[in-house]
Amino acid sequence: MSRLLLLLLLLLFTIFTLTSAKIPAVIVFGDSSVDSGNNNVIKTLLKSNFRPYGRDFLTGQPTGRFSNGKVPPDFISEAFGLKPTVPAYLDPAFTIADFATGVCFASAGTGFDNSTSDVLNVIPLWKEVELFKEYQRKLRGYLGNEKANEVIKEALYLVSLGTNDFLENYYTFPHRRLQFSIQQFEDFLLDLARNFIKQLYHDGARKFSFTGLPPMGCLPLERATNVMSNFDCVDKYNLVALEFNNKLEAFVSDLNTQLPGLTMIFSNPYPIFYQIITNPYLFGYEEAGKACCGTGTFEMSYLCNDQENSFTCPDANKYVFWDAFHPTQKTNQIIVNHLLPSLLSTFN
Ligand SMILES: *[C@@H]1O[C@H](CO)[C@@H](O)[C@H](O)[C@H]1NC(C)=O
Repeated sequence: MSRLLLLLLLLLFTIFTLTSAKIPAVIVFGDSSVDSGNNNVIKTLLKSNFRPYGRDFLTGQPTGRFSNGKVPPDFISEAFGLKPTVPAYLDPAFTIADFATGVCFASAGTGFDNSTSDVLNVIPLWKEVELFKEYQRKLRGYLGNEKANEVIKEALYLVSLGTNDFLENYYTFPHRRLQFSIQQFEDFLLDLARNFIKQLYHDGARKFSFTGLPPMGCLPLERATNVMSNFDCVDKYNLVALEFNNKLEAFVSDLNTQLPGLTMIFSNPYPIFYQIITNPYLFGYEEAGKACCGTGTFEMSYLCNDQENSFTCPDANKYVFWDAFHPTQKTNQIIVNHLLPSLLSTFN
């Protein structure tokens, strides 16, 4: 075969793969790790639609994302050739025309457990599912049954939550601790997760990325309480995250065998995130223990508000964490870049 012919074939192949994206939409469920603004319109104290949140976002505007810029689903959507951001379902600035290629039902502060979303009065996971049902009706009205069903079936569903169930609920309030050992609580959450996935599967969802827990003992808010260990990561919480992630991996493989036609991958942010935190200089950071916002130890949401403090760092790219509980845009991007090869090779 001549070299020119080979070149032409390669070119055609590239054009073909660029124009035949198999994922028509990215659909997001979860907590603040992926919320793109749903909490803006609900009655909760857990919000981020004010400066300095969004400082480094495309438009420089706060959106309700708990970061200085984008959150992981934005990067993932972009990598699949879809929109560079995934709009929040409750944001009145968007319509079903926008949501047809990507929509986010996530709510900061929520968890698998109903009693977790009660803590900060945010959207419980069952309500995210209700909103998804409403979305399906609107999508059928907009695209017609056949096309809408195709979008629902071929869309990539991103699921990211669980940290709040442990840190904001189990380890903060006695209710679940009196009821369950930590291992029992993990299994309780997995049962809830299984029911949640089965509901989406029943509605036609088939392609999933299920996100594992981060090294949650290294969140600045948790480190700030680790006085006896020189503000190091809280090992106990990291061990729980590792244990839960192991169970999640088995959970994902079980579901793949139980539910015909399902393709679910386990996207585990823990290893790369932990590497970033323990070797921040390798990734161009200067600080991994404290966040950019405020004193970097306890502030998030309204406590980060520009009007409340003037300590916020000038360059968020030097920080692993943006506020006491959430990574900077740069960290989100590095983590996504690490998870993308498996996402793209499975779903594109
Ligand atoms: C969570 O709350 C909803 C609404 O009240 C209820 O339908 C559901 O059964 C609850 N889930 C669990 C596991 O208790």
